Amino acid sequence: MNIKKLIRPELAAMKSYTPIEPIEILGQRAEGRIIKLDGNENPYGCSPRVYQALASYPYYHIYPDPEQRKLRQALEKYTGLNQENIICGGGSDELIDLTLRLFLQPGDETINCSPTFGMYPFSTEVCGGKVVDVPRDKIFVVDLVGIKKVLSEKTKVIFIASPNNPTGNVITEQGILELIGTGRIVVVDEAYFEFSGVTMADLVSSYSNLIVLRTFSKWAGLAGLRIGYGIFPVEIASYLMKIKQPYNVNVAAQAAVLASLADIDYLRNNVAKIVAERERLFGKLKELKWLKPYPSSANFILCSVHCRSDSLHCHSERSEESPAKEIWHQLQKKGIFIRYFDSPRLRDYLRISVGKPEDTDALIEALGEIC
Ligand SMILES: Cc1ncc(COP(=O)(O)O)c(C=O)c1O
Repeated sequence: MNIKKLIRPELAAMKSYTPIEPIEILGQRAEGRIIKLDGNENPYGCSPRVYQALASYPYYHIYPDPEQRKLRQALEKYTGLNQENIICGGGSDELIDLTLRLFLQPGDETINCSPTFGMYPFSTEVCGGKVVDVPRDKIFVVDLVGIKKVLSEKTKVIFIASPNNPTGNVITEQGILELIGTGRIVVVDEAYFEFSGVTMADLVSSYSNLIVLRTFSKWAGLAGLRIGYGIFPVEIASYLMKIKQPYNVNVAAQAAVLASLADIDYLRNNVAKIVAERERLFGKLKELKWLKPYPSSANFILCSVHCRSDSLHCHSERSEESPAKEIWHQLQKKGIFIRYFDSPRLRDYLRISVGKPEDTDALIEALGEIC
């Protein structure tokens, strides 16, 4: 039987998403200690109260609350916004997918401002939509004029990550207001909000086409439990409530969020440590001269690489590769994992997540040995 003939042709043809690899697999590739700076995860982990809450939770055998009442109440307190506007998902990834399921018909378009987070094109294609890319400028600022030029009757959703992954910069409120003015659904993805302090969430109550997404993966160290939330206009929230899987957020993630929000000072202190370390890392990377770090409002730094392959130790093994990719390989051998993107625009770039001070020191020493 030819199964492929039965599969939606656009899905059979689409490129897969390139995720990061789990820590156990990375461990097999390096000898000794692993320094994981490739996933924008929180090096301090989650609140200790999360472990206690998970250990003592009594109802794992009972389905979660489909209306997410306790969670949304706690988020109302945290965000200062009305719980009617809030819906939680299995990471903000799920909310990106759910939003597209609500708005896209086959052939509808979404606007992607590359380089940016890969889930926007991925989920657009899975939902039968078409991605229209409007690349950011040289310093990664969103091309508002370019976006307006490509709008068509089929354009439904515009995605803006702010701070943007992997570039770390934020969009201005003026920029978002201009996009709102196009009448399309504008999704501002604030996965890194707690590191930037910049948000568009307060605008949601004034505009019926603005959505803000957030996550507990980064600032609260809950990436493995998969929990994020969105701030939606009430009308959109009610449709999403209708189409989401009833039990989309598992009870462990719910208990973890409640415990995290009860320990907010601890988490904010970790965020402050990461922001301070980001600035120290930025200074150290800049000193290397052959790396150009871009200012970041998130928990990672994008760098362009300005060295020749023949200035790298062991360059002969993969002489056809870009120096950035070679450095990425060499760091892996030393147990240091950062992110290289195999895309033409980012061929000469590396993204480094902010770790603990000792991770920065080990990385800088290793970079010095490599180039
Ligand atoms: C911009 C952006 N949005 C969303 C996510 C995914 O967040 P979550 O873990 O909540 O699915 C990421 C993760 O890297 C991200 O960089």
